[in-house]
Amino acid sequence: MALLLPTEIDTLHYKPIRLSETTITELMIPSYSNFGGKIHGGILLSLMDKVAYVCAAKHAGNYCVTASIDTVDFLAAIEVGELVSLMASVNYVGNTSLVVGIRVVSENVKTNSVKHTNTSYFTMVAKDEKNIPTAVPGLILETQQEVRRFVEAIRRKELRQSYRQEVEQIKAPMNYEKCEHLLTGQRCKLMINSK
Ligand SMILES: CC(C)(COP(=O)(O)OP(=O)(O)OC[C@H]1O[C@@H](n2cnc3c(N)ncnc32)[C@H](O)[C@@H]1OP(=O)(O)O)[C@@H](O)C(=O)NCCC(=O)NCCS
Repeated sequence: MALLLPTEIDTLHYKPIRLSETTITELMIPSYSNFGGKIHGGILLSLMDKVAYVCAAKHAGNYCVTASIDTVDFLAAIEVGELVSLMASVNYVGNTSLVVGIRVVSENVKTNSVKHTNTSYFTMVAKDEKNIPTAVPGLILETQQEVRRFVEAIRRKELRQSYRQEVEQIKAPMNYEKCEHLLTGQRCKLMINSK
């Protein structure tokens, strides 16, 4: 990778990550909770989508849509009364798409304890006035962490491509005799009506 001096970079077509970094903090109110008293996963997803949109739109300078989400694992439950902060930054850009990395932490204001509850990667696509995908500015990587995140995003993209191909094979027409061994030890009974 060629290292460019700041004056050599076309700042109209490349932007630093820091300009679109976004944090949203929200108080977890009782109406966000489920029957078990913990915060609904859907509430968190909605907040993550919101912060991803703000971050992506700031970088793209355009309206953006969510194309896909690279795994959401809920690592710890969130309680009513906690303060949830969602920190988003652009990790990677393609032509019209960009990957926004989001780290979610939840803080108990009484004890000051902070727990990490999620890290996810949202792929957003910029759209023009005619709702057609449109080019986004490139990224100026200014820190080693930004380079690491960019490279990790390339590797996740490659993994997703091979995962998609594998999943297509899973959907191929089924041969029951060949698949029987996969069912051994599983909690199912075959009661197929041969009529
Ligand atoms: C996502 C969407 C924009 C893709 O449109 P498309 O006509 O297939 O566009 P293209 O094939 O030209 O792809 C555009 C970019 O999106 C990326 N992309 C498309 N589908 C994707 C997916 N499922 N995951 C990740 N990236 C995807 C492509 O890789 C491409 O990136 P690049 O330009 O950086 O190389 C389109 O399917 C869409 O608008 N979906 C609905 C989005 C929406 O409403 N989201 C809210 C959820 S309710």
